Amino acid sequence: MDQNVVLSVSDLNVYYKNRKKKLFEKSGKKQALFDVSFDMKEGEVLGIAGESGCGKSTLARTIVGINKDYTGTIYQKYGEPQMVFQDPYSSLNPAKTIGWLMEEPLKVDKNRKWTREERLERVKEIMDRVELPPEFINRYPSQLSGGQRQRVCIGMALMKSPKLLIADEPVSALDVTIQAQIMELLEQLHKNLGISIIFISHDLRVVYHMCDRVMIMKEGRMVEMEETDKLYRYPKEEYTKELLTAAGIRK
Ligand SMILES: Nc1ncnc2c1ncn2[C@@H]1O[C@H](COP(=O)(O)OP(=O)(O)OP(=O)(O)O)[C@@H](O)[C@H]1O
Ligand SMILES: [Mg+2]
Repeated sequence: MDQNVVLSVSDLNVYYKNRKKKLFEKSGKKQALFDVSFDMKEGEVLGIAGESGCGKSTLARTIVGINKDYTGTIYQKYGEPQMVFQDPYSSLNPAKTIGWLMEEPLKVDKNRKWTREERLERVKEIMDRVELPPEFINRYPSQLSGGQRQRVCIGMALMKSPKLLIADEPVSALDVTIQAQIMELLEQLHKNLGISIIFISHDLRVVYHMCDRVMIMKEGRMVEMEETDKLYRYPKEEYTKELLTAAGIRK
């Protein structure tokens, strides 16, 4: 394996249980991903784009270990990556303070024991990193704006110093101005901490600014994967051209 590879996915096929079984239909599985293979280099920002239902979240959830029904191999150089989800409103427990929520990943850290003081120190450090005022430590999620909540989610994902962060539509639920701020934060983290990022979005314009390479997916398959500039200027596949045209990027 190339030393510079942080993630290598080969021949990934992912299945879901068929929930809506039709009459006379054999109970069985629905395949959501078909033979997906790709490598990711250390420090790279990889965009994954494609229409709703094409399998972007499925791919992300399988890489972080949430989806377990798959065949193929997933090699990760540094062990478990962390994930940031789309909706900062529903992904935070409303009954817990920001401090409690951010501390939690350390309490269940399998790799090391953290003392209470160490945990608090780390929470403060990360709150600073994601630009949340220190006094927010005692606030509840309902007392924060959407953008601030997404900063909490990103902070939680950073607590254990991951080398790979998977952000699944991290700005889709936010206002445009707030979107730009969160994108800026992710770029800062990438630059300052050297984290590799998988950035998932259905918005090809958002992906363009952020990513070194982009993967286009359709109906559970990888259509094309290429350096961002190249893909946007010289798309090889008809489907990529269609998406670029629909996004108003290509005439
Ligand atoms: N828990 C589940 N059980 C059964 N089928 C599922 C489940 N989650 C997703 N699917 C199906 O798998 C396919 C891929 O869904 P996925 O959520 O990965 O798409 P997506 O690209 O993330 O879409 P979006 O842009 O809307 O978030 C879809 O057909 C979806 O209906
Ligand atoms: Mg999704």
